[in-house]
Amino acid sequence: MKIISDVNELKTYLKTQKKTIGFVPTMGALHDGHLSLIKEAKKGCEFVVVSIFVNPTQFLAGEDLDKYPSRNDADIKICSFAGVDVVFLPQREDIYSSDEVSIKSPNVRGFVLEGATRPGHFDGVLTVVNKLFNIVNPDYAYFGKKDAQQLNLISLMVKQLFLDVIIIPVDTVRESDGLALSSRNIYLSKEERLEALKISRSLHEASKMLQKNIYNSKEVKIEMKKILAPLEIGYIEILNRDFEMIKSIEVGNTIVLVEALVGSTRLLDNIWL
Ligand code: PAF
Repeated sequence: MKIISDVNELKTYLKTQKKTIGFVPTMGALHDGHLSLIKEAKKGCEFVVVSIFVNPTQFLAGEDLDKYPSRNDADIKICSFAGVDVVFLPQREDIYSSDEVSIKSPNVRGFVLEGATRPGHFDGVLTVVNKLFNIVNPDYAYFGKKDAQQLNLISLMVKQLFLDVIIIPVDTVRESDGLALSSRNIYLSKEERLEALKISRSLHEASKMLQKNIYNSKEVKIEMKKILAPLEIGYIEILNRDFEMIKSIEVGNTIVLVEALVGSTRLLDNIWL
């Protein structure tokens, strides 16, 4: 496995590979969720690149960029065991300069849910992902369904900017008790971790309601709220795959999304129905 920090070195090296390239962009602190992206990339591609870059532009003022877990040595070992071909590990100044062209997320889809409480967050995500795509030039790029809005906006960017990469959504990885894996889970105390299970349970309840032929979004949300109590709910939304609100669940075209505060940790999860 090669570790490359320099943009031009990586570009030159990748040009010599006449193989299908699968790309997994990450911010490091790798867990089994990332590993499942890497596994999918290995299944679908001859050559796998993982980037590790804590992207400053997707953190808003007041969000603790400097406290974001950084474990490069462990992450590199994980990548090596997982059979990754190249780890791209740039410095901030390799990716950004002082006067930047940037991409704006769309006015509607970019400013609901996560975008409503973190305005500008997705501008940063799209900007860095676009840059990384231009550097790596992958055939396929892998993103978790857990960050459904990010996945949706990146797919939209690829379509609208006519980028030559195929986005592969990958299922959320869960602990055996249902908790969705997230880099933020390390902030949860034992008690909070138990409370956090209410999130996946509420989503499970939404799918159980379908089995009882209850499709009405309002009714589903009411039941979910009961399960989530007393957590502070950021949002419960029932959207179609184009991220539009729907009054009743359309099987095969619906995402139910939850954001809740557990202690001081904001957790996201969703279920695709
Ligand atoms: O999901 C993430 O880890 C980040 O948002 C991404 C896609 C690597 C961009 O920085």
